[in-house]
Amino acid sequence: MTAGTRRIKSVEDSIRDTDEPEHRLKKHLSGLDLTVFGVGVIIGTGIFVLTGVVARDQAGPAVAISFVIAGVVCGLAALCYAEFASTVPVAGSAYTFSYATFGELVAWIIGWDLVLELALGAATVAVGWSGYLNQLLDDLGIPLPTSIAGEEATFNIPAIVVVLLMTTVLVLGIKLSSRVTAVIVVIKVAIVLLVIAVGLFFVKAANYTPFVPPAEPAAEGASGWDAPLVQTLFGFDQGTFGWGGVIAGAAVVFFAFIGFDIVATAAEETRNPGRDLPRGILGSLAICTVLYVAVSLVVVGMQNYADLSADAPLADAFADEGLAFFSGVISVGALAGLTSVVMILMLGQSRVLFAMSRDHLLPPALARVHPRYGTPYTITIATGVFVAILAAVVPLEELANLVNIGTLFAFVLVSIGVVVLRRTRPDLPRAFRVPLMPVLPIVSALACLWLMLNLPGDTWARFLGWMVLGVLIYFVYGRRNSRFSTPGGREDSAAANAARRS
Ligand code: ALA
Repeated sequence: MTAGTRRIKSVEDSIRDTDEPEHRLKKHLSGLDLTVFGVGVIIGTGIFVLTGVVARDQAGPAVAISFVIAGVVCGLAALCYAEFASTVPVAGSAYTFSYATFGELVAWIIGWDLVLELALGAATVAVGWSGYLNQLLDDLGIPLPTSIAGEEATFNIPAIVVVLLMTTVLVLGIKLSSRVTAVIVVIKVAIVLLVIAVGLFFVKAANYTPFVPPAEPAAEGASGWDAPLVQTLFGFDQGTFGWGGVIAGAAVVFFAFIGFDIVATAAEETRNPGRDLPRGILGSLAICTVLYVAVSLVVVGMQNYADLSADAPLADAFADEGLAFFSGVISVGALAGLTSVVMILMLGQSRVLFAMSRDHLLPPALARVHPRYGTPYTITIATGVFVAILAAVVPLEELANLVNIGTLFAFVLVSIGVVVLRRTRPDLPRAFRVPLMPVLPIVSALACLWLMLNLPGDTWARFLGWMVLGVLIYFVYGRRNSRFSTPGGREDSAAANAARRS
């Protein structure tokens, strides 16, 4: 591919677009707002649900180590995001970064891929929210019929309600969204601290041995499509438990960390992006990692890992100790906590699609900003309706891995991209720089790839299917309508640079 056909959008063009009057977003957010945003989206289903499943089925008490591994992998990627976000403070995160480094096709692919992380992630958490709600209603003796609520509903009404409610908050303004998030984050962090502080008194040392349960051969049925791809491709049977189980567990609890990257999608709404974005991204991730490791250590200390519940491990560990009051408080806190996850995942989705429409890879009318609220309302409403439909009818539980693979793929490209941009544009001012260049980003890309390979074959098949569909749509619509195709539109910055050099 020649430079001219790669259609690299210069960082300067990206920044200039943010100033077009019809596309200008309100700059309201501070470093603290971003950190709160990060914590608001990171702490969710992962810690409230997956801790139990992974401890019970894959890692035992060493689920805490799975959290450490996933946290370290995310930390490496977060450093790369921090450099990119401080260099290209433009809505769209990985999509925008890829446009500036690899060109339009890869940017489109990443934008399309992010739908898996953001819209699908929001729908998955909304369904989880419906599950928690019905559990709580059940405890009160007034459960809704399982056909319209809970995790297995055929038409999930509470999931639709939470999605549409959060969409309304998003349309009404970024400042309101950040206030709502702040309240929810306080509740959520308080619940997590409560679990740690109270749970500590009920920890039994015996539950920590063996800390890494001995490896067992993979369960029957964990073969072919269900098995991690690394096993199918290379015959590397990690089995369950043992260190293999701890690593496979890391690929699952990775879900619990998803969200720190979304801080970067709010770049354009940040007052001082160069300083505040790295703080928001790295700060929220660090806080959550510490909380996760502490919570998981307490929970596996309270109850033998084999007895942990798969649906609500934190609340149930307290219920089993006869602490019904605490159990109730945790359930209500989890319910409140999941709402901000749904909201911010949709915020991220709308900002990525906003950036894509502004570049005319999607219909430009979608990029309209509300004259009073200063939010991209058309795309926000479209995102809300799409997520509501997904959450209402699609059996999402099996699709959660698809969210992980989609996110990890974006992390791989961002990690490589940061190295590429240092080479192609060494001149750009970088408020934050990744240390140990280029080793750290390369390790980051390889670590993310390794976690991807630990996901099952059927997840890979769905992922590839989605990506092929995306590439087809690009050639049918995006490539023809892009601002690069419009007469008098942009020029390829790589081609322009090459021409200037010659
Ligand atoms: N990290 C978010 C969660 O665990 C997506 O729900």
